Amino acid sequence: MINTRIIGTGSYLPERIMTNAELEALVETSDSWIQERTGIAERRVVADDQSCTDLATIAAQRALEAANVSPEDIDLIVLGTCTPDRVFPSNACLVQQNLGSKAGAPAFDVAAACSSFVYALDVANRFLRTGGAERALVIGADTMTRLLNWKDRGTCVLFGDGAGAIVLEASDEPGILSTHLHADGAQECLLHVPWGPGMGYDRLTDTNGKISMRGNEVFKVAVRTLGRIVDETLDANGLSKEDVDWLVPHQANIRIIQATARKLGLPMERVVQTVQHHGNTSSASIPLALDTAVRDGRIKPGDLLLLEAFGGGFTWGSALVRY
Ligand code: UT7
Repeated sequence: MINTRIIGTGSYLPERIMTNAELEALVETSDSWIQERTGIAERRVVADDQSCTDLATIAAQRALEAANVSPEDIDLIVLGTCTPDRVFPSNACLVQQNLGSKAGAPAFDVAAACSSFVYALDVANRFLRTGGAERALVIGADTMTRLLNWKDRGTCVLFGDGAGAIVLEASDEPGILSTHLHADGAQECLLHVPWGPGMGYDRLTDTNGKISMRGNEVFKVAVRTLGRIVDETLDANGLSKEDVDWLVPHQANIRIIQATARKLGLPMERVVQTVQHHGNTSSASIPLALDTAVRDGRIKPGDLLLLEAFGGGFTWGSALVRY
């Protein structure tokens, strides 16, 4: 089996910053409630003339630059998202076209809500390890604000837009040590967008095309589930909590992140936190956090990273990475 390594990271955030004060004008909420319950101070919002693939393309270009790899050298694109620009082609195909990447190489989206990036990483990793490709772009990109009901204070304060990407390369050196994916469709109605084009446009209403969440119930399941996956990931590698240098978690809520860090016995200084400035960017949150900490020099070659995510489906997953 071939190993795979991350050889470049990139990310992109839309320019417009939306503060909690702006949300106070839309719904009955307060900056202090949002910060205390979620840790979020601001989020980015996609411009009217920008699409999810626009964000993904810039993040991918930055990852390619960091890896010193040209688009023609990419022979696989796997893109995690729950906000595709179109029903088809996939965002991955649109990014391939935007980049001028190798025509004929496979490109497809993976839909696992907030766990989509970890799912996409797992899929790309398997391609590379079995010789199906040599160099992959793995992207997480979402324009979650387009799925928000701006009258629902239980959801509209939580999400933001963005994209992150990595270049993954087949290698002799170990990089992606293991990936772990799970799903439980039985609890789908706790967190979902209850409409999709397969249901027919005559059933689309003002609210059912938007995110609906029973937040407190999701919160409890997320904390329990992420605690379990930490153990599963370390056990699979025969490693202990002390071996982890950085937790790079999905950024949904600072309290969920703190609970996972406690479970790992990691001080918050060893946890990459972007939720304050990004909100929950769904598929983009882990690669955005990873790129932030790589570029500011916190994450260094050789560090052991634990990536973990939980999202609608329910879906959840993790990756243990030697950076
Ligand atoms: O990424 C995918 C996974 N998603 C998540 O992991 C999100 C998980 N859930 C959460 O992050 C939290 O549950 C929330 C931040 C959504 C909510 O925090 P909570 O501490 O679980 O609050 P709650 O839902 O129990 O609501 C407490 C109170 C309620 O009022 P009453 O019934 O006590 O009078 C809510 O109506 O807070 C109220 N509330 C708000 N108040 C001010 C709910 N949203 C808001 C708001 N501003 N935006």
